[in-house]
Amino acid sequence: MAYDTKLLDDSPESIEYASKLINAGEVVGIPTETVYGLAADAFNEGAVRRIFEAKERPADNPLIVHISELSMISETASEIPAAAISCAKAFWPGPLTLVLPKTPDIPLVTSGGLDTVGIRMPSHPAARALIDAAGVPLAAPSANLSGRPSPTTAAHVLHDMKGRIPAIIDGGACEAGVESTVVCFEQNAVKILRPGRITAEMLSQVVPDVRIDKGVLHALDENARAASPGMKYKHYSPAAEVYAVSGTAKQFSKFAEEFAAKNPGTLLLVFSPTDAPPRTEYIAIGQDPAEQAKNLFSALRKADELNVKTILARCPKTEGVGLAVYNRLIRAAGFKEIKL
Ligand code: TXA
Ligand code: MG
Repeated sequence: MAYDTKLLDDSPESIEYASKLINAGEVVGIPTETVYGLAADAFNEGAVRRIFEAKERPADNPLIVHISELSMISETASEIPAAAISCAKAFWPGPLTLVLPKTPDIPLVTSGGLDTVGIRMPSHPAARALIDAAGVPLAAPSANLSGRPSPTTAAHVLHDMKGRIPAIIDGGACEAGVESTVVCFEQNAVKILRPGRITAEMLSQVVPDVRIDKGVLHALDENARAASPGMKYKHYSPAAEVYAVSGTAKQFSKFAEEFAAKNPGTLLLVFSPTDAPPRTEYIAIGQDPAEQAKNLFSALRKADELNVKTILARCPKTEGVGLAVYNRLIRAAGFKEIKL
């Protein structure tokens, strides 16, 4: 069914209207502090199937379940290790997803067939208000078409979801710009499956033993079982061919100048305008990793609007929030990295 997709504000009336859609088994685009999500009642199999259809998402890629009160965790997780409780107390509400054994109430459609479920308590007031008003946890993946860069504004969601869902709540531009940090627990350790704004350094303040899954930095083999199924799919990709280029600003500038001269339709994704040689088209995403995280996906979408053929992107450092930026960029590039 084609919908006449409504763009709602985040007033109490709009939240009330959206909660009725959720309770009727529909899918609503919602703002969060990380990226926009496509939300439905996590307990309602039919509603969750609609999310997969709207996004054209593979059925084995699990959804994150969003809660607004700590008490809701017992409806979704059947076992909660002490380390998980410490993480929840330290970082919720906020951009951290805990992978825990699921309760039978969470349908397998929601968990992508797994016996675990990713749970997070968002801090965005509109997301929290909608969960409260609907009275159920909301399953919500990022609101992009599968494979495309995640949406960080309501306009991005409308671009991908027009006609596919009944409504989108506009809560402004997302603060973090990259998706939540996803972690699971191994004995007394916490393991990062997807890096985000909550960094390894921050987690180690709460749980001393922090591990990083190998899928965070490296491409997984076709047949490897991914700890986080989302890691195995081509992701965050604009239509243009993306290359991640690592090296100093000077090396980058020299390489980019020669490359752009030979390849018309090249766009540079740089940290600061001074990284770009003269007479080249570029988008600057900032020097600071948090700023880069905030701008990366909108820059990739902008590149599509400009119809460029190739993107040469400066590789960020892999420390702190930089690890999340690197992880998304290298996937957008299909792991094509040029080391200068
Ligand atoms: O910030 C976010 O997390 C956003 C907003 C909307 O909350 N959501 C989001 O969802 O990014 P999605 O579906 O685009 O990404 C979820 C990631 C995927 O890589 C998925 O494989 C992983 O989390 N994941 C979810 N449940 C999991 C589970 N039970 N075990 C392992 N990985 C899981
Ligand atoms: Mg996603």
